[in-house]
Amino acid sequence: MEKDENHNQKKERINLTIREMKIDDIAKVFHLGEKLFTARIVPNLYRTWDEYEVVSLFQTDPEFCLVAEMDDTIIGFALGLTISKSGSAWKYGHLHWLGVEQKYQRQGIAKKLFKSFMELMVENGVRMLQVDTEADNLPALHFFREVGFGSPQQHIYLSLNLSDLRRQMKKKKENGRM
Ligand SMILES: CC(C)(COP(=O)(O)OP(=O)(O)OC[C@H]1O[C@@H](n2cnc3c(N)ncnc32)[C@H](O)[C@@H]1OP(=O)(O)O)[C@@H](O)C(=O)NCCC(=O)NCCS
Repeated sequence: MEKDENHNQKKERINLTIREMKIDDIAKVFHLGEKLFTARIVPNLYRTWDEYEVVSLFQTDPEFCLVAEMDDTIIGFALGLTISKSGSAWKYGHLHWLGVEQKYQRQGIAKKLFKSFMELMVENGVRMLQVDTEADNLPALHFFREVGFGSPQQHIYLSLNLSDLRRQMKKKKENGRM
């Protein structure tokens, strides 16, 4: 009971602003993400947290890039975009990256970011919102379930090492030149 009260008081104490990301925020968001998206969390190359990722999302749909700011410090972000698929009347939204500075986690900040993000999506005609995360990222899975996501579908990553083929092709080319 006492624990619950402390938890809620902590949430209320935070003086937070959720706003659109600006160009000057790019580096801050990138560095915060570097701390959050470690190799453990994003172990595949399909999505990599790098400068290009932040810049390209900002360039594509700046209105869907939000930050959470407290006393002029960025402590969280939600970056996404909308997708229209050919043959489908539905517009989709995708939340690519959601992160909150570790020491401010479990204080309702991601929930606030997500609420603003979701409202933006609705205002922009999105009918279905999607997210993806690693199967062992339990905090994220708990969070996404808590805010209403369901129907998880598994996606398997496979990899093929092309080094041997690369060597064979190189050899073939060299032999061809002789
Ligand atoms: C996932 C993440 C964004 C959640 O941010 P947060 O600000 O701590 O989330 P909130 O405080 O708004 O949590 C809302 C609810 O989600 C659930 N939740 C969030 N984190 C949880 C955790 N670690 N364990 C269990 N439930 C959790 C809880 O139900 C929580 O409500 P409660 O605190 O009243 O119990 C944060 O853990 C994070 O930045 N993780 C690293 C980056 C990442 O993995 N991002 C997601 C994939 S892109």
